[in-house]
Amino acid sequence: EDLHPQNMNTKEDDSQKIRGVIDKAVERYSQTWKKQEDNCQKLRFHLTSKCNGLDRAVVTQNSTPVDSEISYNGLKKTLKVTPELFSTFIKEHPFSNKTLDTCAVVGNGGILINSSCGETIDSAQFVIRCNLAPLGNGYEKHVGIKTDLVTANPSIFVERYEALNGRRRPFVEDLRSYGNSLLLLPAFSYSSKTILSVRAIYTIEDFESPIRPVYLNPEYVESLLLFWRSQGLRETRLSTGLTMVSLALELCNNVHLYGFWPFSHHPHDRHNLTNHYYDDIKPKVFHAMPAEFDLLMRLHSQGVLRLHLGDCP
Ligand code: CDP
Repeated sequence: EDLHPQNMNTKEDDSQKIRGVIDKAVERYSQTWKKQEDNCQKLRFHLTSKCNGLDRAVVTQNSTPVDSEISYNGLKKTLKVTPELFSTFIKEHPFSNKTLDTCAVVGNGGILINSSCGETIDSAQFVIRCNLAPLGNGYEKHVGIKTDLVTANPSIFVERYEALNGRRRPFVEDLRSYGNSLLLLPAFSYSSKTILSVRAIYTIEDFESPIRPVYLNPEYVESLLLFWRSQGLRETRLSTGLTMVSLALELCNNVHLYGFWPFSHHPHDRHNLTNHYYDDIKPKVFHAMPAEFDLLMRLHSQGVLRLHLGDCP
């Protein structure tokens, strides 16, 4: 069979390499998992000193006053904070001085289909989801419903909601399943995303949706990239999933991952998998997913976080 990462068809050489990554993952996964407290502490200490997500992950009115400048990720371009933009910032950082017990970070991988992991995911104290992944419609049993934080890449507003230029109610209705969770917007990766994000926030306010929108801080994103590069990850842009895992590693004593498996076949019986549990749209940006996955697998083996690749009881 041709094993490949979800975002590309590979040449035979790469296919061999990926087979290697998968075989190694399956082998590592078969070892008994045990939490290693000192490895957790060490990584958390490093992450906190270099990235400090608990105080910096989100743009706040405290951190970013009117007339200050926000730098777009990896670009020279900056944006001056106007009073209008400032008024859309949250006042205080939502994670300051917080530590949580158990967090579930839910990636969107097709590996979640028929996993029956919904209940286990929902039993976590804090549940993080990515890119407004759909809940309900029969997905609950496998992905759960509880959400404390959900990310939304602004490109979703273009793809699913006509860039919020037409009727905006369908967007607000889709937000209902996330209740009053935090909606994390990576608004400062490109300037086009800022406009879309502000439009989303105005929509949320105008329709009085209970969801709480916040902006992902581009400085935090930048520091995470440098951090993981210093740990050997060769990448130019981190995926949403790894960004959320990084935040969870600072925020939570126990980090569990579901739906992280960026390959075309299931690790156990090798049946075909779709890229997402809800569709088979392939990612446009190549995030070096196998390299990221290898990093997550390493953290799993070190007892720092726990990946779940199997079905839940
Ligand atoms: O496109 P983007 O990377 O922002 O994310 P997504 O496709 O909406 O999925 C959310 C996250 O789940 C990704 O960033 C990956 O970390 C993870 N994922 C995975 O590990 N395996 C997959 N087959 C799909 C997603």
